[in-house]
Amino acid sequence: MKFRTAAIAAGAALAVPAVAANAAELNMICSAEVAICEKLVGAFEASHSDISVNMVRLSSGEAYAKVRAEGRNPQTDLWWGGTGDPQLQAAAEGLTAEYKSEHLAELHDWAVEQAETSGYRTVGVYSGALGWGYNTDIFTKKGLKEPTCWSDLLDPALKGEIQIADPNSSGTAYTALATLVQLMGEDEAMDYLKKLGSNVAQYTKSGSAPVKAAARGEAGLGIVFMHDAIGQTVEGFPIKVVAPCEGTGYEVGSMSIIEGAQNPDEAKVFYDWALTTDAQNLMPEAGSYQVQSNKAAVASEHTPDFSKLKLIDYDFAKYGSAETRKALLARWDAEVGGRAAE
Ligand code: F6P
Repeated sequence: MKFRTAAIAAGAALAVPAVAANAAELNMICSAEVAICEKLVGAFEASHSDISVNMVRLSSGEAYAKVRAEGRNPQTDLWWGGTGDPQLQAAAEGLTAEYKSEHLAELHDWAVEQAETSGYRTVGVYSGALGWGYNTDIFTKKGLKEPTCWSDLLDPALKGEIQIADPNSSGTAYTALATLVQLMGEDEAMDYLKKLGSNVAQYTKSGSAPVKAAARGEAGLGIVFMHDAIGQTVEGFPIKVVAPCEGTGYEVGSMSIIEGAQNPDEAKVFYDWALTTDAQNLMPEAGSYQVQSNKAAVASEHTPDFSKLKLIDYDFAKYGSAETRKALLARWDAEVGGRAAE
């Protein structure tokens, strides 16, 4: 009997009975929210009854570490979602396979550029801008000033109120680190992050966890992708979403086939399907409000309008390179990591 791995937030495996007898298998890492991971897997299996998907949810940095650890004996066939930087690093290290989908021409330029930068070893599936969400009830009750700029987050009144993820495990937090470096310069960004650490109550593993904590009143503010903050507002939590006044960075959420995958044909079938409007239109249905990469996909009314945001010219090639990513993470570990408020 075949078993299917159900995705759970912690990323651990849970075996449940398979849906399709005698089906071919696809082993997939999903680095976005569990709801969209499960929705995609369910829809794919429903339309491809000959392929059974084993899926595990891991944050972007954790997924990169798993793919790298599997090395020449890959257990993973396909990696869907999560920020593009670690997928570009994996591509440069030869851990992902070259593939040109017939759907490439249907994609936005930023998604195709991600493929070109990597020598077609990864591709963009969605994009999202960085910002934060804060709990308006907590801010009102404590008389805290609305934080509209990165500089506002250093206000000593916010001591212990902020959560952000650890950039080693989380692509969201790595995007924040790389964004601040591009906005301020590296030394100034590290100095900023050290000061921010005085206000940080917790560095989480997953990128969206901080705003979920803020939504439930366990924190005042979570630095996250704007679409994850919007997701909490749409669910009815008292979360106000902010696009920082100085400007902000963004992600090109990506997808890659693993080099040496045991099920390369099934991986290509999923890859091609995931670039179609049918697949990408599932995102808003699952509460995922990123901009989809297929130009004909229908964005949600909740998806932020990028033309109204002050976006930086994020250098994906540089910040997704092994050299820069390793160096920045090492510096964050040495100078910032673990400095949460006592
Ligand atoms: O699914 C939500 C999301 O914000 C994606 O847009 C992003 O690629 C991913 O989560 C990043 O997750 P993490 O920070 O945990 O790696």
